[in-house]
Amino acid sequence: MLAGVMSELGTPHATARASAWRARPAAQQPAYPDAGELAAVSADLRSRPPLVFAGEVDSLRKLMAKASKGEAFVLMGGDCAESFADNTALNIRLKVQTILQMAAVLTYGASTPVVKIGRMAGQYAKPRSADTETRDGLTLPSYRGDSVNSHEFTLQARVPDPHRMLDAYLRSGTTLNLIRAFTMGGYADLREVHSWNRGFTANPAYSRFESLAEEIDRAMRFMEAAGVDFDALRQVDFYAAHEALLLEYEDAMIREDSRSGRLYDTSAHLLWVGERTRGAEDAHVALLEGVHNPAGVKIGPTTTPAQLIDLIDHLNPDGDPGRLCIITRMGAGRIRQLLPPLVETVQADGRPVTWITDPMHGNTITADNGFKTRRFEEIMDEVRGFFEVHRALGTVPGGIHVELTGDDVTECLGGGEHIDEAGLAERYETLVDPRLNHQQSLEMAFEVAEMLRS
Ligand code: PEP
Ligand code: CO
Repeated sequence: MLAGVMSELGTPHATARASAWRARPAAQQPAYPDAGELAAVSADLRSRPPLVFAGEVDSLRKLMAKASKGEAFVLMGGDCAESFADNTALNIRLKVQTILQMAAVLTYGASTPVVKIGRMAGQYAKPRSADTETRDGLTLPSYRGDSVNSHEFTLQARVPDPHRMLDAYLRSGTTLNLIRAFTMGGYADLREVHSWNRGFTANPAYSRFESLAEEIDRAMRFMEAAGVDFDALRQVDFYAAHEALLLEYEDAMIREDSRSGRLYDTSAHLLWVGERTRGAEDAHVALLEGVHNPAGVKIGPTTTPAQLIDLIDHLNPDGDPGRLCIITRMGAGRIRQLLPPLVETVQADGRPVTWITDPMHGNTITADNGFKTRRFEEIMDEVRGFFEVHRALGTVPGGIHVELTGDDVTECLGGGEHIDEAGLAERYETLVDPRLNHQQSLEMAFEVAEMLRS
């Protein structure tokens, strides 16, 4: 994975190519009190090593191209918002483990490679619906993610601090270091991952997946008997992605690859722009226009076919396969009506995209007891709708994008453990959006594997 890395270390970009975003409207940016401090941190970041390398990013682009054609399936998952406090070895290991377990099941269901991408190692900046938050008469700046300010509700904690970008950079680096160790050092051994999945299906709550797990068992025994070298399967490629929201941070991480002369945002392999910052003429899209990474755009229910074509004109004008993924988040109740005209428009246009479903963000509700939550059954219904629409139109459902954690949190309702509203209070830990817990994530993977087979 790191072959040729010396030529890919890159130099900070000195050209106008990547700076076009500065002339465009930029939503969701923190108001830093001291411009001098911001400039000093940016300059510092510019001098630091890249977190990911051009060769790795190019490999992911090739895999995303395969996914656009149905020759691979994308699994993107991780926290809504990573936090500095949860940046521990245990949390990282559990998330990687969950994603590897899901990927093993999905690989069997899809009969194609699964592209494993963590919403990890950089998911530290969040878009917010309001600039301020008021509690008991006190109004403070909203929490915008740990790379901007702290979640604690005091003025000192909420004032944006540019030094947090440096902390986010360092924590992303240590996270990637651990991910590389886990996925290159034998932790991803398929036999081991499959045995974890057998543990999951042994739970009576998930006995309906027993027969699928038994089939995978037989496939593994067949592989072994046929002489497959399992030791060669002990290493897997695992990529990192986050929302390219905090423009100063992303800009400071852009490097020029000396071999190709291309610009890469070296903060992650894949970057996406969110539903709230996806204006085709706006700063976030302009930033991603300037770099060679695979790019994603989240699109919600108000997206028009014309906007989608505009986004393709900006982000993938030449129709390079693997460059652009469209991450749809419509809501379970609406996807079957809203998605078809968008897919048909892109189909008629002809430039390839990789369609991915985010079944989380269109299905957020507030429980009667005040918790922001999502129903597992609605999440699954949106995934089902996504498959139905693509199958009806003859297009490719290329992947899923989910908010999950490797822990036994209680943030989403339902699933085999039947978490109810009262149960949410037991272990509700997310700083922003509710995540599937470890079991709910595996349950989703088994269900999606069945959809992929049918
Ligand atoms: C997110 O991915 O956490 C997010 C905020 O998504 P969206 O932009 O789709 O609302
Ligand atoms: Co979220």
